[in-house]
Amino acid sequence: MMKHFLSVSDVPDISKLIAKAKAFKGSPSKDSILGAGTRIGLIFLNPSLRTRISTQLAARNLGIEPIVFDIGQNGWQLELEDGAVMNGSSVEHIRDAAPVLGSYFDIIGIRSFPTLSNRDADNEERLLHQLVKYADVPIVNLESATLHPLQSLADLLSISEHWNFERKPKIVLTWAPHIKPLPQCVANSFSQWVNAWNKAEFVIAHPPGYALDRRFTEGATIVEVQEEALRDADFVYVKNWSAYEDYGAMPTVNGDWCLTPDKLLQTRNARVMHCLPVRRNVELSDAILDGSSSLITEQAANRVWATQAVLHEILQNLTD
Ligand code: CP
Repeated sequence: MMKHFLSVSDVPDISKLIAKAKAFKGSPSKDSILGAGTRIGLIFLNPSLRTRISTQLAARNLGIEPIVFDIGQNGWQLELEDGAVMNGSSVEHIRDAAPVLGSYFDIIGIRSFPTLSNRDADNEERLLHQLVKYADVPIVNLESATLHPLQSLADLLSISEHWNFERKPKIVLTWAPHIKPLPQCVANSFSQWVNAWNKAEFVIAHPPGYALDRRFTEGATIVEVQEEALRDADFVYVKNWSAYEDYGAMPTVNGDWCLTPDKLLQTRNARVMHCLPVRRNVELSDAILDGSSSLITEQAANRVWATQAVLHEILQNLTD
């Protein structure tokens, strides 16, 4: 049973959750009254297209009323520090705001990106854990300082729809260039889920200086030559992230890490993945994004079914 959905650790059986997501994809309304009379608050400190919309659609499919609140734009600035003397810019303490949100909603989803400047604070995931502690309702991670588990579940759903598992697929997560420092959340989370799933050969490729936190990559093969990783790949997941060691930095990269069709020639007709939004012709070429190897729109569409499966698990736990 699932109380909160903060990371893969909250999932008792990944394959069963994927099967549940597939069942909802086949029949979106099959449990459309389970959530009748309940509300989910979707609290965004940061922008979102896919998570914002897919979570509302998933909730509505289960009869849950979604209410979106852009707290980052329209709410009071939150203080997270216990014992803080609030004579600065923060207006409201999470200890006061969280119980109020908990009284309005039966489930709370929260998106809060990392600072990318304070590694310890980001690793603590303080906002998520304070909500768990003070809101007293199930909390769903809509992308936090270190993880994006709803994205990862949709990613594994997408892979499982394109693989029959007669042999383990080779899945490659490759770093890609970007114009600004991005969080490590998607890469961390994808690594954690693929490793926990244990149904694939998993290789991570990144330039020197871009190693991810070992807590999330343990079990993967890690290389610093993209070409070596791509050989015989069945799935190639493309994503930029900033440095973890020199936290939030963008160390200089030698060579071209943008994924182009010529690089896919050494794969086994690999399917290409990305969580979106993507910087065209920086991370990935137009030819790949617009070509037949791309699973990218499917991944985004699958966010609805992945989230519906998670909300269904939480609802079942609430009503038991
Ligand atoms: N992939 C993803 O989470 O997209 P959004 O940031 O648009 O929600």
